Amino acid sequence: MSEKLAMNGGTPVRNKPLPLPYCGASVYGQEEIDAVTEVINAKSPFRYYGFNVLGKVKQFEAALCEKFHVAHALGVTSGTASIITALKAAGIQPGDKVIVPAITFIASAGAVVSAGAVPVFAECDDSFNLDPSKLEDVIDKNTKAILTVPILGNSCDMDPIMAVAKKHGLMVIEDVAQSMGSKYKGQYSGTFGDVGAFSLQMNKILTTGDGGVVVSNNPKCYERAVRFHDQGMFREREGFLNMSGEDEIFIAQNFRMSEITGAIALAQFGKLDQIISKMRKINHMIKDGIKDIDGLTFRRIVDEEGEAGNAIIAMLPTEELSIKFSKAMAAENVGVGRLYGGRAVYELPQIMNQMTVDSNHFPFNQLDEKVEYAPGMCPNAEGYCKRNLQLGITPAFTEEDAEDVIKAFHKVAKALL
Ligand SMILES: Cc1ncc(COP(=O)(O)O)c(C=O)c1O
Repeated sequence: MSEKLAMNGGTPVRNKPLPLPYCGASVYGQEEIDAVTEVINAKSPFRYYGFNVLGKVKQFEAALCEKFHVAHALGVTSGTASIITALKAAGIQPGDKVIVPAITFIASAGAVVSAGAVPVFAECDDSFNLDPSKLEDVIDKNTKAILTVPILGNSCDMDPIMAVAKKHGLMVIEDVAQSMGSKYKGQYSGTFGDVGAFSLQMNKILTTGDGGVVVSNNPKCYERAVRFHDQGMFREREGFLNMSGEDEIFIAQNFRMSEITGAIALAQFGKLDQIISKMRKINHMIKDGIKDIDGLTFRRIVDEEGEAGNAIIAMLPTEELSIKFSKAMAAENVGVGRLYGGRAVYELPQIMNQMTVDSNHFPFNQLDEKVEYAPGMCPNAEGYCKRNLQLGITPAFTEEDAEDVIKAFHKVAKALL
């Protein structure tokens, strides 16, 4: 007989919730405090000038280049800013279409719109990432780039994606917001395409509260990124408003990273390996403990060695079961939610109805042939969104927490599956 579930009045597996899903912030300590204090004491929070600029942003960029084996890195204000900057650096413009996976956070599609292009949504597979075999279904003459999004630590299958991009002459932009430190075949996610974009927002693997980074091996893309993020300037080369390369200049944004953010980012970056190895250990322990549950399967991990470990995504046979399961788990104090509330990104009303901040629906009005979105467009992705259970893992998880998760899964599965 199965044990009485907490949602039916039974005793919960735990009497307190799991650690909150904030990876980077959970390991904040003296290193971050010292780094910020140094900037404050120097009275120089701006990266380009001040009383005594310490160059924290520059040091963070250099550390990232060295570890990720990439030529250029640029700190920016957010993950969204990093994707917009990456797209503009790659030359994406109004009238262009950019392929976006059907499973992602709204910011991936929003950044494409902010860059003046139109997102077209491509099917995902059981890895919850782009299905490389379906990419060609959505390519036409206006398609200019593929935005890859490794979901929660699971790198994308870059070889076939890069092959499709090469065949069709498309740029590849990697939105690695959720997966900093993940690898594919030994190479860091974000360093395969023309430009990579990372987030340092609160629930990311490393965090500065808000923040982002752009990386590229292409000097032209890097120069465009620097100019785009700093009012068209490349100060380290030309100084303030003194732009020499007149063919290369343009009116742009302020997406500059502050020295305070750079200081925290640098301290956090030094902890990346430790964070990932801790999360991977807990992740594997939990997966091992629940893998024999009948009716429960896991998303496919594209590169087991390179997984960052910040989430376990399981799947149940139906949407109804996944909703019920998640409610029962919450009552046991083991929160597992459905990724993005069970919806593919284009199912969000503002995307489905192409509502932008402009009354003329810019940039959707820039295409000769209107792009239409419809429910059922990417049926596999919709299915995976509906029937998944996602558990966020952080370095704050103890082995006891992991044991409770395993216990709760077995208890609820016995009653419901
Ligand atoms: C896939 C993806 N892209 C972009 C973003 C946006 O990052 P930010 O919140 O730093 O703007 C996020 C998360 O917030 C994300 O998960």
